[in-house]
Amino acid sequence: MKYPNRLKLANLPTPLTKLDKFRIEGSDVQLWVKRDELTGTEVSGNKIRKLEFTIAHAIDEGCDTLITCGGVQSNHCRATAILGTRLGLKVHLILRGEKPEHPDGNLLLDYLVGAEISYLPQREWSKHVDLAHQLQEQYRQAGSQAHFIPTGATDEIGLWGYIAASEELKQDFEAVGMEPEYIVTATGSGGTQGGLIVGAKLFDLPGKIIAFNVCDDAVYFENKIKEDVTLWRQRYNQSLSADDLEITTIEGYVGPGYGSADQEVFDTIAELARTEGLFLDPVYTGKAFHGMVTEIQKGKAGQLQGAQNVVFVHTGGLFGVFPQQENFNFD
Ligand SMILES: Cc1ncc(COP(=O)(O)O)c(C=O)c1O
Repeated sequence: MKYPNRLKLANLPTPLTKLDKFRIEGSDVQLWVKRDELTGTEVSGNKIRKLEFTIAHAIDEGCDTLITCGGVQSNHCRATAILGTRLGLKVHLILRGEKPEHPDGNLLLDYLVGAEISYLPQREWSKHVDLAHQLQEQYRQAGSQAHFIPTGATDEIGLWGYIAASEELKQDFEAVGMEPEYIVTATGSGGTQGGLIVGAKLFDLPGKIIAFNVCDDAVYFENKIKEDVTLWRQRYNQSLSADDLEITTIEGYVGPGYGSADQEVFDTIAELARTEGLFLDPVYTGKAFHGMVTEIQKGKAGQLQGAQNVVFVHTGGLFGVFPQQENFNFD
């Protein structure tokens, strides 16, 4: 595979770990975890894989500033803020919501690395791209060049992150002699899911790619992935068509809404921590992992029927645990 220009930022390859102690009641499915929470310490999780390509592209364009956007607890914004600082780039974040009195979790790290932060209330969020363009113009007038990275670095450039990860997965599966029936991820802006779906086709991965959405719905992800893959095909002169892709998003696990979870998600996070010493987060991985376990428990009536080996792609998010610590029950 000929990849576009890429920075080496992530600790790769990440391990593929077999879960020996976490048990799904009434099922003998073997779970595996692709440990992408270990792509780094502060810059960890799935975003760094995408940003290897996105920031390389920005630097090639001559940019000295990165502008990006997301929720106040965005893992993507935190990863961009830290990587930008390390690479000597200025970072300007547009965060959805109000400025909290005490920054916590990801936001604390954004402040510590000195990112410039603009807050945009939820009711005005539909204008965040306009604001990014205004900021780009302000930087231009001040003699800088700012690159705008869309939410989650999910576009035709960021897609390469999980295409490359699929090549890594192929080698992982060969190394342990295992062919999973399903590969599971959380989906929030669609880039990890989209990259895996394209990568699975390109590298002939065993296993169907299944995503659990933490916001929006299945139709949204179907459209977003097709749009990004079409742009990717045009920009990089690829033959794979968006119409050839099987996009499976399992709905029903968003809970009360993006960023807030039901008690059972917190209980699943605690159970995995207690049994395996692995940490999920309540915004993304906790919901997807909980959804995966629930669907496996449904057996033939579930959406992971016929599973023997299932790989969960751990996309990181640990810093999102701390602002929600009051939801864990230790009695
Ligand atoms: C920890 C974590 N997991 C999963 C996702 C979802 O990935 P994507 O935005 O590529 O859909 C995100 C970001 O949105 C994330 O921060």
